[in-house]
Amino acid sequence: MMDVEMDKVVSLCKRRGFIFPSSEIYGGINGFWDYGPLGVELKRNIKEAWWRDNVQMRDDMVGLDCSIIMNPRVWEASGHVGGFSDPMVDCKDTKERYRADQLYVFAYVFPAVNHKGEPAEAWLAGLGSSPGEAAELAEKKAAKLAKKLGQPTAPATIIPYMQLDLADRDKVIGPSTDQRGTLTEPRSFNLMFKTFVGALENESNIAYLRPETAQGIFANFKNVVDTGRVKLPFGIAQIGKSFRNEINPRNFTFRSREFEQMEIEYFCRPEEAKEWYAYWRKTRFQWYVDLGLRSDRLRLRDHDAEELAFYSTATADIEFAFPFGISELEGIAHRGDYDLTQHTKHSGKDLSYFDEERKERFMPHVVEPSAGADRATLAFLCEAYTEDQVGGETRTMLKFHPRIAPIKAAIFPLVKRDGMPEKAEAIHRELRRHFNVFYDEKGAIGRRYRRQDEAGTPFCITVDSQTLTEDTVTVRDRDSCRQWRVPSAGIAQSLRDLLDGQSIPASS
Ligand code: GAP
Repeated sequence: MMDVEMDKVVSLCKRRGFIFPSSEIYGGINGFWDYGPLGVELKRNIKEAWWRDNVQMRDDMVGLDCSIIMNPRVWEASGHVGGFSDPMVDCKDTKERYRADQLYVFAYVFPAVNHKGEPAEAWLAGLGSSPGEAAELAEKKAAKLAKKLGQPTAPATIIPYMQLDLADRDKVIGPSTDQRGTLTEPRSFNLMFKTFVGALENESNIAYLRPETAQGIFANFKNVVDTGRVKLPFGIAQIGKSFRNEINPRNFTFRSREFEQMEIEYFCRPEEAKEWYAYWRKTRFQWYVDLGLRSDRLRLRDHDAEELAFYSTATADIEFAFPFGISELEGIAHRGDYDLTQHTKHSGKDLSYFDEERKERFMPHVVEPSAGADRATLAFLCEAYTEDQVGGETRTMLKFHPRIAPIKAAIFPLVKRDGMPEKAEAIHRELRRHFNVFYDEKGAIGRRYRRQDEAGTPFCITVDSQTLTEDTVTVRDRDSCRQWRVPSAGIAQSLRDLLDGQSIPASS
């Protein structure tokens, strides 16, 4: 687990304009978030790094941008209409709704006795993705009851709500109530958002907001092959919004109802799929490391047999140690020929592939690296959040990799006179042609540095009196606070070298 507290990251995001609750002036809306001026740059840089590395830098990948609303038969073929659901439980008392697979029941025994002279028992439900996480809430409730009934013994029974006998469900006190037996039976709840297309709101006009971008890729497989640009093995990549009516959106943007995915469907010969699966597992893991996530906070977790979708022979999650626990960043799935076969059956269009060299027709197999742009953004924010001591004060900074930093450099005149603003503005004009840079002349120079540290800006460039006589400027490095001088002429190239990781001078 990380030592960064989630509250601090959330508060910095709000204060500095990375992420805001959606429609906040109306009280917000659970599971929806807006990216502010710095956040939009950060997320764009992450998406652009993904697109550049996975599409433009490769010979075996092409891109796609599909519509969000598709023919609803797509979602019948993919299995989402029938099976994309979570079990949910309602609380009859408070009207709260929970994911049944995240409810755990802890049976505590208290020293006080009931009217029959038996020890008092309370079956307290906690919420979490593991019993450990769920225990926190149950413990809080047990501590409240302890005032009345005495200190309880540690719970002897800890059981997922879904596995409780029907008769025992009446004993459970739900997470948001003090009454017993208010939780309903688990019911299946489809996560797709529904809407109507056209003027009539009837059954035949129902459409869905896509819950993943992947199906747009499968539906266009034949179109892309027919362009003649691709030959197996090749991948199709897409970045775009997806929507899921999650029962419990939580952990800031981690589980949202509207989010962006960055997905690849990589098509290959069936006998090569295992190799490509191993390749993408490794390549995708390294991508996060190269952009600044510490490898000891990342892990690749293979799904065990019960977790695998019935058509998948192997799936691995890339997980990151977020402040709220180790959680999934990206899934890499070996999907076999399931999707192309399903769409062939449902559409009646043959989606098999003809290999011109071997004169063979077959259904390609698919390896799917599926990442979330918002989850990646959150992971980079948590990783970057740093506090250190500078000049006896606590400094907060975001240590972003220069490639994803929202602002690449800030340009300051040391003071607002002697021609310094004019010179700094000229440098700003020159640099903004190449980079996202920021000009600031307000306030003490120390404060201006701190503000950029909080925004995650890797370098600050200051025009001072020496600039006017020698035509050099001061460059300050965010992480070390070290400063040195470089010529004003060729400043764009100097900044490019620094952003590319060329060495920073050892001393000022
Ligand atoms: N096409 C496969 C697929 O969609 P998934 O594991 O359901 O697989 C892939 O989603 C990725 O999308 C996840 O690893 C995560 O990064 C992101 N994602 C999924 N649900 C999300 C949600 N509710 N909020 C934010 N990101 C989500």
